[in-house]
Amino acid sequence: MRVNVNSIRQMKSRGEKVVMLTCYDYSTARILDEAGIPLLLVGDSLGMVMLGYESTIPVTMEEMLHHTKAVTRGAKSAMVVADMPFMTYQVSKKEALHNAARFIQEAGAQAVKVEGGANIIETIKKITENGIPVMGHLGLTPQYINQLGGYRIQGKTADAAVKLYRDALAVEDAGAFALVLETVPAPLAGFISRKLTIPAIGIGAGAGCDGQVQVINDMLGSFTDFAPKHARRYANLAEITSQAVKTYQQEVCSGIFPGEENSFSMDQAVFEEFIRQAE
Ligand code: KIV
Repeated sequence: MRVNVNSIRQMKSRGEKVVMLTCYDYSTARILDEAGIPLLLVGDSLGMVMLGYESTIPVTMEEMLHHTKAVTRGAKSAMVVADMPFMTYQVSKKEALHNAARFIQEAGAQAVKVEGGANIIETIKKITENGIPVMGHLGLTPQYINQLGGYRIQGKTADAAVKLYRDALAVEDAGAFALVLETVPAPLAGFISRKLTIPAIGIGAGAGCDGQVQVINDMLGSFTDFAPKHARRYANLAEITSQAVKTYQQEVCSGIFPGEENSFSMDQAVFEEFIRQAE
C-alpha cells in the first residue's frame, strides 16, 4: 500500500523517523522506492541541481510537472510530494488551488509543498479543504531568497524564533500534514518538533526533528557546484561517473568497446547475399 498522510502521522506517533529525499527522475524514483524511502520530494531545487539555474526562482509549473510525472511513474509505494514553484500559489487562492490540482491530477503526485507561514495560511486551508495534502516549509525558504538577503540560518534572535514557532503552529492549524524546517538552529527546531502534532522534517535543523530530508544530488555527491553544511556525502558519484566515462572513452578509442557480447551477429549467407546486392 502506498504511504499516505495517515502513515506519515503514525510514524510520528510511533517515534519513527520520517525519511524524505528529493527525486527528479524515473530511474532514481525506482531505486528510492524499492529502497523503502517513504517520501519523495520533487523539490524545486531541481532548478539548481538538474537545470543549472542559480536559484529556485526561475522554475516553472511546466518544468515541475514534467519531472513530477517522471517520478510518479517510478514510485509505486512512496508518497510523492511536488514543490509548487515561486508565484504559483501566492497570487490568489483560486490560482493556488488550480495549480496544486495539476500536480495531483496531471502529474500523479499525492501532495504539494508550499513555502511560507502567516502569509499563506488561507492558501494552505483552501488547498487542504479541497482534498490535496499540503506540506509546509519554514525557516530558510529559498523562494524568498531576495527578501531574506541570502542563504542564511533563520530564527536566530528570540523574536525571529517566536515568529517561526507561531508560523509553524499556524501551518499545522491550517491543515498541513507535515512541515519542512530548513536551516534553523537545532534547539529551536527540536522545540518546534516536540510542540507540533504533525512531523517536522528537518534539513540543516538538527537531529531533534521528527525526520530528515536531503537533496539527493548533495548526498550522492553528483552536484559539485557547492557543498551545503547541512549535507553529508554518502557517495561520490561525480568521481565515479568521471572515472567511468574516461574508461569508456579509452575503450572506444582503443577498440575494446563494444565487445562481441555488446554486438549482434548476422547469418553469414544473408550477409553475403547483402554484399552481392549492395555492390
Ligand atoms: O526544493 C527542495 O529540494 C526543498 C528541500 C530542500 C526541502 O525544498
